[in-house]
Order: sequence, then C-alpha cells, then structure tokens
Amino acid sequence: MEDFRPRSLADIIGQPEVIGRLQRLAKGVLNGSIVPPTLLMHGPPGIGKTTAVRAFAREVLGDEFENSFSELKAFDDRSPHQLAEIIMNSRLAPKRNAPFRIVFFDEIETLTPPAQNALRPAVEGDGGTSLYILACNDLSDVSKPLQSRCTILEFRPVSPEDMRKILQRAVGLTPFTLGPSAIESIVERAHGIPREAIKLLVEEGGAS
Ligand SMILES: Nc1ncnc2c1ncn2[C@@H]1O[C@H](COP(=O)(O)OP(=O)(O)O)[C@@H](O)[C@H]1O
Ligand SMILES: [Mg+2]
Repeated sequence: MEDFRPRSLADIIGQPEVIGRLQRLAKGVLNGSIVPPTLLMHGPPGIGKTTAVRAFAREVLGDEFENSFSELKAFDDRSPHQLAEIIMNSRLAPKRNAPFRIVFFDEIETLTPPAQNALRPAVEGDGGTSLYILACNDLSDVSKPLQSRCTILEFRPVSPEDMRKILQRAVGLTPFTLGPSAIESIVERAHGIPREAIKLLVEEGGAS
C-alpha cells in the first residue's frame, strides 16, 4: 500500500476542497502570513487522511520532515502518563531549521474523554513549537470543546472520475495491465474509498 501513497499535495487526486485548503495553508505557513491552526481531519478509513497529513508535512517541513514529525495511532501507548510526555516533548525546539514540529494524532476518537480534554491546552498552542494535526473517522465521537479549537477538514468519497485517475496512476506503478471494464468494476465496488480501490487492483491485477 505504501508504494501507492502520493507523496506531495499536488500528486493527490480528488478531495479538491481539502487539498486546496492544505495547499493555501502550507503556502501561508511558509511565507509567515499564517500561524498554523490545529487541524482536525475526518472521513472514513482509507479515504486519504494519513496521505494528506504526510504530504502536508513534507510541504512545510521539507523532504526530511520525518525528523520533526511524530505519528500516534490507536495502538500506541496513549495513557495519561504517556500523553503528558508527548505533550512535553512537543514543546521542545524543532530539529535543525524546521519551523516547528508536527504531532499527528490519528484515530483521536479512541482517546477517552479525559485524554481528549488533556489535549486541549496543547492544541491551543500552549508551548508553541508544535502544530497538532488530529484525525478521526467520525466527528461525532470527538468532544465538542476539542472540535471547537480546531480547523475541521472533511474528506469525502472520491468521485468515479477521480477514482479512475487514481487507478490509472496506480496501475502505472505496477506490471499489471487492466482493461477499461476491469477498472470500471473496481471503481464501482470501491465506493469512493481509494484504499479499497488499490486493494482490489492489487488482488485482481495480480490474478489476471
Ligand atoms: N487521493 C489519493 N490518490 C491516490 N491514492 C490515494 C489517495 N488517497 C488515498 N490513497 C491511497 O489509499 C491508501 C489509504 O489512504 P490513507 O491516507 O492511509 O487513508 P486514511 O488515513 O484516511 O485511512 C493510501 O496508501 C494510498 O495508496
Ligand atoms: Mg490513516
């Protein structure tokens, strides 16, 4: 799957609203005209949230973004003690000449309500050297006070037209050839979810 992940915002197909906003934000951050807000991405699994966050991080922090980028998923330790440490570390000065650190909290809805509350001061910029990006599948599982402190970006199912482009690009990265009817069939069954489409492509391209 990783091989198919677009690396830059410009390479991401579909999601014109979200990607446009991230591009404007990245530009503003780079020229100093925007203080980056805390972002909260939401949309179903496989829709492209992680892809967009990593591409945004590359845009603002450069190709070495991993040095100043941490990603925390549901299965990472996010106990109160660990959370306090993560927040402490996010206040350290960024590495080398990066403008700030990015802390990417994925699957935020799996945090308990007290843990979501513990994040509030941090996402409000307390400490100042980190940009927090949060992601969830369903916005209704995120506490209202946390939501109200974030710029909310919604990822929607990709249109059939964009899905064809995603598949054509992905096919180009494989040794497979897939005819128009095979592509159409995948577009139909993927229901606008890129991960689903790529999965079907790998399964069926490999079998044909
Ligand atoms: N706009 C896109 N263009 C091309 N491939 C995409 C796009 N969005 C997602 N993908 C593919 O789908 C996979 C799942 O995306 P990901 O960002 O991990 O979803 P999420 O974080 O929302 O669960 C990625 O590895 C990538 O291959
Ligand atoms: Mg993800």
